[in-house]
Amino acid sequence: MSKENHFETQAIRTQMERSQYLEHSTPLHLTSSFVFEDAEDMRASFAEEKERNIYSRFTNPNTSEFVDKICKLEGAEAGYAYATGMSAVFSTFAALLNAGDHVVSCRSVFGSTHSLFTKFLPKWNIETSYFKVNEIDKIESLIQPNTKILYAETPTNPAVDILDLELLGSIAKKHNLLLVIDNCFATPYLQNPIRFGADLVIHSATKLIDGQGRVLGGVTVGKADLIREIYLFSRNTGPALSPFNAWVLSKSLETLSVRVDRHCENALKVAEFLESHENVQLVKYPFLKSHPQYDIAKKQMKKGGNIVAFEIKGGVEAGRQFLNKLQLLSLSANLGDTRSIATHPASTTHSKLNEVDRLEVGISDGLVRVSVGLEHYEDIIADLNQALG
Ligand SMILES: Cc1ncc(COP(=O)(O)O)c(C=O)c1O
Repeated sequence: MSKENHFETQAIRTQMERSQYLEHSTPLHLTSSFVFEDAEDMRASFAEEKERNIYSRFTNPNTSEFVDKICKLEGAEAGYAYATGMSAVFSTFAALLNAGDHVVSCRSVFGSTHSLFTKFLPKWNIETSYFKVNEIDKIESLIQPNTKILYAETPTNPAVDILDLELLGSIAKKHNLLLVIDNCFATPYLQNPIRFGADLVIHSATKLIDGQGRVLGGVTVGKADLIREIYLFSRNTGPALSPFNAWVLSKSLETLSVRVDRHCENALKVAEFLESHENVQLVKYPFLKSHPQYDIAKKQMKKGGNIVAFEIKGGVEAGRQFLNKLQLLSLSANLGDTRSIATHPASTTHSKLNEVDRLEVGISDGLVRVSVGLEHYEDIIADLNQALG
């Protein structure tokens, strides 16, 4: 297919080779392994003298189709698909780092990624130094001779802060670091970190890429030489995406652009409504002019995404009461679903952090995160309105 094809066309028309049945829609290859013609075919395949499927922990037509699509959509050379977003994050670090290496990361990272940095990587003598979202100018002072990876998410979870990808790209280049970006909140449709200098891009496909709350998945894409190391680590350690989930996710990508367009339209309307509500004291949405990094968001994102964070007047208790009054929005741990979801991080996902640590990642007592879904925006707003009382 021509390189010039648009995003929507690549997301639909990037496809595996068809079988003798010439399926129109992508067929599902539920098989753990593949057969060889003879002993020589088997030897040559294991020696990687030919490119072919051997065992679904290594590759499978469905996982390859999903990876090929994400590569095209992100502008990446190669990739590997994982059972979850966290297995993509973990395997990327584990494959590329050696004992004694050092990571510089934004402090505002997903909770399990924070645990990886603070509880698990130190077991292998890999330390992480953090900078806060508004401290990009401090990054250079954190870099050590053994620093290998510069890591960030943008927009961040749950406070939807934005980091300047171009600036991160130039710092990584200057200091010869690998820039790894978790692009989960933006999806490849809204933002392509590789354009700004990222070496690797990670997604939790569980979120907007599936978009319908059905399956877990993850993927890492980027430079071919890095992916080769990541692939060899992963094919031996076993975090592979299942062919069935890959089939679901590849089909989901066919509708990613239309879904995300509507998610963003709804989210902007929800953000504008919340900004006008008397019981709300702060609304964070990347494409609201009041967002502290609005100009950066406009520079690097196509639209603002589907996550709106806002602060209810009245702190933790007001947050709890608000959640209890919701009728349409779900209380659930996921995000990026067709169904709108509300969470109150201070009393749930981040309740184990002390107040100082919570505030460091932008989680005030009254912060609510809404993953705006695809229901009619008037119904979403009506539910928020009655719950805000
Ligand atoms: C930004 C971000 N990265 C990674 C993950 C982990 O993804 P998964 O739940 O698919 O392991 C999440 C999950 O919420 C996330 O929000």
